[in-house]
Order: sequence, then structure tokens, then C-alpha cells
Amino acid sequence: MTKVNKNLRKKNYKQAPLPFQGQKRRFLKKFDEALETFPSNGTYIDIFGGSGLLAHHVKQKYPLAKVIWNDYDNFKDRLKAIPNTNILLADLRLELKNAPRDKKVFGKHRESILNLVKKAELDFGYVDYVTLSASLLFGGKYANNFKEFEKMTFYNRIRLNDYACEGYLNGVNRISEDYKIIFENYKSQNIIFLVDPPYLSTDTTTYKSENYWKLRDYLDVLNLLDNSPYFYFTSNKSEIIELCEWIETRSLTQNPFTGSSMSTTNNRLNKDSGYTDIMLWKNH
Ligand SMILES: C[S@@+](CC[C@H](N)C(=O)[O-])C[C@H]1O[C@@H](n2cnc3c(N)ncnc32)[C@H](O)[C@@H]1O
Repeated sequence: MTKVNKNLRKKNYKQAPLPFQGQKRRFLKKFDEALETFPSNGTYIDIFGGSGLLAHHVKQKYPLAKVIWNDYDNFKDRLKAIPNTNILLADLRLELKNAPRDKKVFGKHRESILNLVKKAELDFGYVDYVTLSASLLFGGKYANNFKEFEKMTFYNRIRLNDYACEGYLNGVNRISEDYKIIFENYKSQNIIFLVDPPYLSTDTTTYKSENYWKLRDYLDVLNLLDNSPYFYFTSNKSEIIELCEWIETRSLTQNPFTGSSMSTTNNRLNKDSGYTDIMLWKNH
């Protein structure tokens, strides 16, 4: 009988140990059911690994599988910082112990929060702003650094328990690369790809990707699905499935815009953002 290392004993996390936008916690049950039809000793790559929740789940379910987690965002650093994050949250809890819960934090309390966070930066050399955001910012809002954090309105939503990640990614191999490089390295091997890219038309501000994902990037990801078994996650907002269905009904041999001319107008929404309207024409 194959012995399972004691570090791999079951530790089922139903969600990532730290807040992570887009983590697949709501899919875990269905993911688990679908996994039943996949090999228990296969090699799995969680290529858009995020919080590692899918990699974690595969390893818990199939201890003999080889599971690779692509930690493109360096979530590892956030996990490593958990003890310091807990210290900072304990200090903040103390500061806000008489402040009403879920209400805005003003004046002296606000100043103290900023000072405590600044001090934590100095003492620990790193502050996990995403985790801090979940305790102090309005739901769904995130800051990535002090500059962004100090501009935000604070709410007393401090988490009451410590964070913990014991055993979370035991037995999972970590890599950190652009998915295209990983795909080139692994594509001809017999690998099961877990493909959960950023969604088209959704906010990705807490991800590392400096470059905003464009339609072409979303379509490029589909190359991963060509010859490998896979799980692919998307949302109805992204409309990728509709696009693929449409392409299937049209045997397109050339780009419908080939030979057309283009003109654009720029529209400014505010000082930070805008968009470009495009006119294409062809008079045959
Ligand atoms: C929807 S999230 C994945 C969530 C993950 N499945 C979970 O349960 O936590 C998409 C991830 O893709 C990452 N990503 C963005 N660009 C990438 C790239 N070029 N290569 C690899 N990963 C990338 C994002 O930083 C983000 O972590």
C-alpha cells in the first residue's frame, strides 16, 4: 500500500485562507464532483493559480496526484506574512474596540489606523494591503499599497479571528511564471490544465498583471484547451462561449474587416480613464 506522507493529511479549506478576488470557493463542490471523472494519479497544473484554492483541493482529494500551482501574484508572500498580519489586525482591533461596527471610522481613530499601518510597514517590511482592505474598506474595495490605502474611507469591519494557513498547500509544487511560458514547457505532456484566467469585463486591480487583459489575450488562453484535458472557468459577462459558438456557425476564412479603413475618436470619462470609439468602413 502506498503510504501518504503525514504532511498530506486532509486539511480541507472551503475557501482560500486569505481574501482573494475571484477565488473559486463557490465552485468547489461542483469542481469536486467533476474531478471524479479525472485520474487520481494525474498531473494537474493550476495555471492561473491565484489563491491556490483549486490546487489545494485537487491535492486533498487526490494525494497521489502531482499538483502544480502557478503563483503568478506571489500569493505565497501574503501567506508567509500571516503572523504579522494577525499582529497588525490585533492592534487595529484594540484601537477600534469602542468604535461602532460596520460604521465609518473618523478623526482620531482614522489617524491611529494610518499610523499603525505605517509602523507595521517599518517593523515587518511588508503589509498585506489586500487582507487589510477586507477589514477596513467597504465590501469589494481594495488597496494595493499605502498610497491607495490612505485615500480610502475606512469602515470598522475588522475580522474577529486570526488568519491561519496551516497545511494549506502541503505537497503542492509552486511555480511563478507567465502562463504562456508554462504552456510552452508542458503542452506536449499528459497534463490536466486548470484554466481560470481573469474574466473579460471584470475588475482585476488586485492581480499582479500590469497589462490590462484585452480580448486577444482572453482568446489566446483558449490555445491551452486544444489537446489537453482541462477545466475552464469563465462568466456570462465575458461572452467568450457565445463568441466561440458564433465562430463555429460561420466558416470564417478571413477577417471580415480586411480591406476596411478605420477612424477613431477619443472620449475622456475623467482624468484617469477614457475610451476610444472606432468607425470602420469599406466601399468594396
Ligand atoms: C480568476 S483568478 C484565479 C483564481 C483562482 N483559481 C482561485 O481560486 O483563487 C486569475 C488569476 O490569473 C492571474 N494572471 C493574470 N495574468 C496572468 C498571466 N499572464 N499568467 C499567469 N497568471 C496570470 C491573475 O493574477 C489571477 O491570480
